Amino acid sequence: MPRIVLLPGDGIGPEVIGAAVTVLEAVAARFSLDLAFEPRLIGAAAMRAGAPPLPPDTLAACAGADAVLLGAVGDPEFDRAPREARPETGLLQLRKALGVFANLRPALVWPGLESAGPFVPARIAGTDMLIVRELAGGLYYGEPRGLDASGVGLNTLRYTAAEVERVAEVAFRLAKSRRGKVTSVDKANVLESSQLWRATVERVAARHPEVALDHLYVDACAMLLVLEPKRFDVIVTENLFGDILSDEAGAIAGSLGLLPSASLGTGPGLYEPVHGSAPILAGRDVANPVGAIASAALLLRHSLGHEAAAAAIEAAIGRVFADGLRTVDLVPPGAPALGCAAMAKAIGERLA
Ligand code: IPM
Ligand code: MN
Repeated sequence: MPRIVLLPGDGIGPEVIGAAVTVLEAVAARFSLDLAFEPRLIGAAAMRAGAPPLPPDTLAACAGADAVLLGAVGDPEFDRAPREARPETGLLQLRKALGVFANLRPALVWPGLESAGPFVPARIAGTDMLIVRELAGGLYYGEPRGLDASGVGLNTLRYTAAEVERVAEVAFRLAKSRRGKVTSVDKANVLESSQLWRATVERVAARHPEVALDHLYVDACAMLLVLEPKRFDVIVTENLFGDILSDEAGAIAGSLGLLPSASLGTGPGLYEPVHGSAPILAGRDVANPVGAIASAALLLRHSLGHEAAAAAIEAAIGRVFADGLRTVDLVPPGAPALGCAAMAKAIGERLA
């Protein structure tokens, strides 16, 4: 029986994971799947229980699981804490320990949601991109790093060709099952790490002649994402650039709450919505659970190999939007909206 470790984490994390479990249970019944869920602590939730942000038993459970489904980490109470005592450190340690280096962040404009955000509907309608964010290196992990008493804060943007090559390979393979286009995003006009990135991506591209490659500087990419989002198919980029561009992609989709992600390496996959812990929304049943539910679909596809169940969840999400159901982040202020739990129930009821 597939073992799925659940890490609800902080803020709205427990609510959106509850919602994802509602839908996973519905899809398991529909497809006669047996799924075993094992909840564990991470982030501020772990720290409040007297444990470190990534408790050893959480890491052991994740390492031995088939997949991990995480809600969110982060809590304003720890905003001024040193790195080892921050909730986010638990997530960064988990990604590193699981060796998940390719973070897939699909972002599409669902039919019916074209006017949910601030963009001209005709410009964004039909947008369907996949950001492949390098997740195990780059500015997030480079050494040396630190903050010293003499007033220096230091981070290092460092890549080896092998690190770039393995994530680029994932991007090119995924492009073949999409529209056959990869945009590599860097800052090669300024950064040596980007010059290595670009040269390495070109070597990988030579192995995939059927995929078209272009390059953009990250500043130009940030602009083109809003001007011409439909030009993008697969984007592959450095860890921090991918973090930033994926929030922008969330705005284009209509709400960051819609975006799922899959983090893949050689061991168990880690699945999490792209949104954060959103402390001001927590505990009020107003969070958008679609990012977490769509992450559960990615889990079924990439870790359990169950394409039919994954596609059924994605189709059910499309159906709730076609039926006009919305969470509060997708409607004008004061308009009627469903809560987090009711949205999950509506999606579960629409599984074909
Ligand atoms: C994300 C988040 C995380 C990141 C934080 C919570 C550490 O913003 O997954 O995009 O920066 O990777
Ligand atoms: Mn982020």
